[in-house]
Amino acid sequence: MSWLRTHTCGELSLKNNGEEVVLNGWISTRRDLGGLIFIDLRDRFGITQIVFDETNKDLHEQAEQLRPEYTIGVKGKVLERDKETINKAMSTGEVEVEVTELIVYSKAETPPFEIKDGIPTNEEVRLRYRYLDLRRPEIQKNLLMRSELYHTIRSFYHERNYAEVETPVLMRSTPEGARDYLVPSRVNAGKFFALPQSPQTYKQLLMVSGFDRYFQIVKCFRDEDLRADRQPEFTQVDVEMSFVNEEIIYAEHEALMSEIWKKFKDVDVKTPFPRLTYNEALQRYGSDKPDLRFGVELNDISDDVANSGFKIFKSTVEKGGRVLSITVPGQGTLGRGALDRLTERVQSQTGAAGMIFMKKTEEEITCSVGKFLDDETMQKMADTSGAKEGDLVLILAGSAPEVYHQMGALRLMAGHDFDLIDESQTRFLWVTEFPLFEWSKEDLRYHSLHHPFTAPVDDDMHLLDEEPEKVNARAYDLVLNGNEIGGGSIRIHNTSLQQKVFGILGIDEEEAQNKFGFLLDAFRYGAPPHGGIALGLDRIVMLMAGAQSLRDVIAFPKNQRAQSMMDNSPDVVDEKQLKELHISLRKSALS
Ligand code: AMO
Repeated sequence: MSWLRTHTCGELSLKNNGEEVVLNGWISTRRDLGGLIFIDLRDRFGITQIVFDETNKDLHEQAEQLRPEYTIGVKGKVLERDKETINKAMSTGEVEVEVTELIVYSKAETPPFEIKDGIPTNEEVRLRYRYLDLRRPEIQKNLLMRSELYHTIRSFYHERNYAEVETPVLMRSTPEGARDYLVPSRVNAGKFFALPQSPQTYKQLLMVSGFDRYFQIVKCFRDEDLRADRQPEFTQVDVEMSFVNEEIIYAEHEALMSEIWKKFKDVDVKTPFPRLTYNEALQRYGSDKPDLRFGVELNDISDDVANSGFKIFKSTVEKGGRVLSITVPGQGTLGRGALDRLTERVQSQTGAAGMIFMKKTEEEITCSVGKFLDDETMQKMADTSGAKEGDLVLILAGSAPEVYHQMGALRLMAGHDFDLIDESQTRFLWVTEFPLFEWSKEDLRYHSLHHPFTAPVDDDMHLLDEEPEKVNARAYDLVLNGNEIGGGSIRIHNTSLQQKVFGILGIDEEEAQNKFGFLLDAFRYGAPPHGGIALGLDRIVMLMAGAQSLRDVIAFPKNQRAQSMMDNSPDVVDEKQLKELHISLRKSALS
């Protein structure tokens, strides 16, 4: 039996003073002041204070038995609170409900952690009891914002004439650079579907079919190493458009981001977003997803030190490597101990061989390898680094491009350590002109930096045969405050160019026909030029919520080992099921 509520727990105000109401919810806290028992009754809309006084003895006795997280219903009268007990922090803080009837729907055992924001709780425990964790106002707020966001995104695309189309979850593997989750087929012995790493091939086929503009809010699955910003199962806002170029895709998504940030954060985002080519981003920030909320940029001091007395500098430059610096304003007084600790972190987290530092004071420039350097060299190094009095210069030497990435990581560490990041800023940018291929030293072959369906830039076509590593791609990433929140490209739409790219990737004609024959065939029947993008919805919500991990914005996330702690999946299945699927397990999997 459930009493039908007249109001939610976030609704009552002085306007309701004197009304008889019915509320349902969970007990958040209970304060027993002897004669009076106060309970904060919680639902997802808010909290209302309810009161049991001792004039109704029976009821008061029942209230004494109530405990946190019991689910109850109450009937009662809305009363204005005494002046001194008004709680301005709560929307219902000016009233309370004097209870006349109580029903206990269910009792609760003592929860494994308090249902409150900001309680330090072991994350594994929270994930195991996720349904309780989801009662916490902070997580509820994140998920409710996410719910609103779906609505805003859907309206945005529908108003602009995009068709929302669902693509299969059971499909053939699409190469997005991660491992597939496979699904065995019972009726096709020995054959497997792959769960989509993205619906890339389908959305391109929809363009061939003439849908012109497509979007979908879609689950994607990638079996890859997990981090705070990566889940094995995540959501993309997936988009594809025909007869477009990069500019249209940029403009559409700048409009979407502006609308979202205005609506949810009341932030006016400046458009158009700045753009950096991949090379510029790497050279200036040491990252393909630079955080522009602080200004420290990389300096190339290789020429200043190429002929210096410090052997490591000299030999690095001789071997074609680079010596890079960043200048941290005002940190010239940092002590040796702190610098040693920073050096250790840089070494362990980035693989850099070591870190050299320089300090500029009114009188002199000092350097940790100063005894090998003359004054003129140090002056040049400081000048190229733009160091002013009181500044600290950090230097790394190594082969390129590795040293750029190392310096990029050091730049971020410095940004966090020395509070250089202006958290109030919202800095979007596009990173463009990624290389089409990268050489894999492990596999001794080229990989696509984005995916194999990305078109080369027109001016680089002639390099495809001889120098594929020099070919730039019509690919772009959308970056926000140092996070990659989207990526896309203009696609190849003709069979012969697609075959050629497969060839460079080491996929021969037979394999290409086997794996992607359907796409190559489709291009033979009139394919429009097309391109698109996919936004990482979870990452966007995480940044909007100011959360530290995707787990705070996904209802039922996986842990770092790609497991669901709550329902204990993945799990073993019984022999009968395996048999039906024509699967026998290797010995190593059984131990
Ligand atoms: P891409 O692989 O760049 O592109 O993915 C698009 C965006 O999805 C998000 N993302 C993730 N979020 C959480 N957990 C993960 N494991 C994860 N992996 C990716 C990122 C990323 O920018 N088919 C192409 C898109 C296209 O070309 O249109 C694709 O999937 O925010």
